[in-house]
Amino acid sequence: MPLVTSRAMLLAAREGRYAVGAFNAENMEMVQAIISAAERLQAPVIIQTTPSTLRYASPALFAGLAAAAARHSAVPVALHLDHGDSPALAARALREGYTSVMIDGSRLPLDENIALTRPVVEFCEPNGIPVEGELGHVGGKEDDLEDADDGYTDPDEAERFVKETGVCSLAVGVGTAHGVYAKKPVLNIGLISLLRRRLEIPLVLHGASGLEDAAVQECIARGISKVNFATELRQAYTKAVRALLLEQLEAFDPKKYGAAARTAVETLVMERMRVCGCAGRARD
Ligand code: 13P
Ligand code: ZN
Repeated sequence: MPLVTSRAMLLAAREGRYAVGAFNAENMEMVQAIISAAERLQAPVIIQTTPSTLRYASPALFAGLAAAAARHSAVPVALHLDHGDSPALAARALREGYTSVMIDGSRLPLDENIALTRPVVEFCEPNGIPVEGELGHVGGKEDDLEDADDGYTDPDEAERFVKETGVCSLAVGVGTAHGVYAKKPVLNIGLISLLRRRLEIPLVLHGASGLEDAAVQECIARGISKVNFATELRQAYTKAVRALLLEQLEAFDPKKYGAAARTAVETLVMERMRVCGCAGRARD
């Protein structure tokens, strides 16, 4: 089927108290792996790309890949701009066929974050494209931006942010961080429950790589409806390529190690989908 937006799938997840897995893709093999995992588990799925990935290959290329792969699949697939860093990039993604957009103003003071986010909602919504905003900090390094501050989302600020921007979903700071965890994160689980009660829109957990399955599931039980996985996919991909090339020093066909990497990513994505509880939810 054609790419769908993330709106209905996230609302269904909120209602059903599970989460849709959102997986960062860097190339064709990862796009294929993610969609194949979704098909095998009959799960709705979000493929997402960051700005640095879109400097590596264009939004048009990813939109073409995702749309072509989704067309032959019976599960709902959304293509999402992850951590959009400018309205211009959000507009470009929209133009090229992305069906979901994040604009990340979480490093800005509240008023400036609202001022950045609202116009993006204003040009996406008339096109039917839902927007994810972020409030509070997800620590660590995502893409080119390093964030030392593990700031928790303030519920009063969140209420104002959602009301004044009209975002469709909200990434929240509850103690997770992007990248590899140097030490065990301290998650503020109670804050998720509080935010779910105060906000009517789906909540998004960033930085899920390296979290224990039980921690991810606890976050979902408290009210997270979308969980982002990136670092782990890159690690699984690269580990598979490295293993194959070390084992077969004479190998030179990119299809050979590409296929090994694709299988490794597919296996990992299926595991994470099971943790998120979205397996079997393709028709929700
Ligand atoms: P990880 O790389 O820690 O999985 O974070 C993913 C993420 O939040 C993408 O936006
Ligand atoms: Zn993130």
